[in-house]
Amino acid sequence: MRKQIAAANWKMNLTYEQGEKLLQDILAVKIPGQAHQQVIFAVPFPYLIMAKTAVAERTDYSIAAQNCYSKKSGAYTGEVSAEMLYSIGIRYCVIGHSERREYFQESDEMLAEKINLLLVQETTPVFCCGEPLEVRKAAGQNKHVETQLQKSLFHLTAEQVSKLVIAYEPIWAIGTGQTATTEQAQEMHAFLRSVLEKQWGKETAEAVSILYGGSVKASNAAELFACPDVDGGLVGGASLVAQDFVQIIKALK
Ligand code: PGA
Repeated sequence: MRKQIAAANWKMNLTYEQGEKLLQDILAVKIPGQAHQQVIFAVPFPYLIMAKTAVAERTDYSIAAQNCYSKKSGAYTGEVSAEMLYSIGIRYCVIGHSERREYFQESDEMLAEKINLLLVQETTPVFCCGEPLEVRKAAGQNKHVETQLQKSLFHLTAEQVSKLVIAYEPIWAIGTGQTATTEQAQEMHAFLRSVLEKQWGKETAEAVSILYGGSVKASNAAELFACPDVDGGLVGGASLVAQDFVQIIKALK
C-alpha cells in the first residue's frame, strides 16, 4: 500500500512555546502507527529543530519545512535553501502552496527549480496544486491542475516522481470551512493519478501518495481518506488543535 499521510501545515501560526506544547499534546496520545502510515508536521523555520527533536523517537513522525528557495545558495538575503534544510535533518518540504503562489508570486517554473534542488538533497517535496473558485465554476479544474503538473513536474523521471508527495488543495476550500465533497476529491485524485500514469506509467502513478487539503476536519477526515485515491490530508486550521489532529491521524487508512 502506498504511504497514507496526515500532514499538518501550521502556516504562520503559534509561538515557539505554543508549538512545542501542541507537539507534546499530540505525542502524549499513543496512536499505534502502521508501517504504511506517516505523520508530518510542516512548521515555521525557527521551530524546525525543536520539532525534529520532539518527534525523534517516532520513526513514523517527520518534520517538514513549509518552503525553500529556488536557488542553491548565495546572495539571497532572508531565504532558506534545500541544502540548509537537509543539513539540519529535514527530509520533507511543502512546495507550491497556493498561498505562496498567490502572495509571493511563485511561478510553476520556480517550483520546478525548488523540486530539483530538494531531490538533489534527497528531500521529499510535498507538491501542492489546485484550482481557484472561478476555474471550478467554469469546470476548468482538470485542465488547471494538469497544467500545474506539466509545468513543474513533467521534466522529472519516473524514479524522481515516485519520490514526491502531491497535495490537491482546491483554493476555494482552504481555510473557508467549505470542504470538497468526497465525490469531488475522489474524482480529482483519480484524474491526477491518470495524469501521472499517462506521463510515467501505471507503476509510478500507483506509488505516489496524493493528499487532499482544504478544510479537512476531525469530523470529515475519515470519509475523505476512505476514498480509494485519497491518501491522507494536508491540514491547516484543524492541525493547530491537538485533539482534532489526533482524530485526523486516526482516520488514516
Ligand atoms: P485548511 O488549510 O485546512 O485550514 O483549509 C489547508 C492548507 O492550506 O494546507
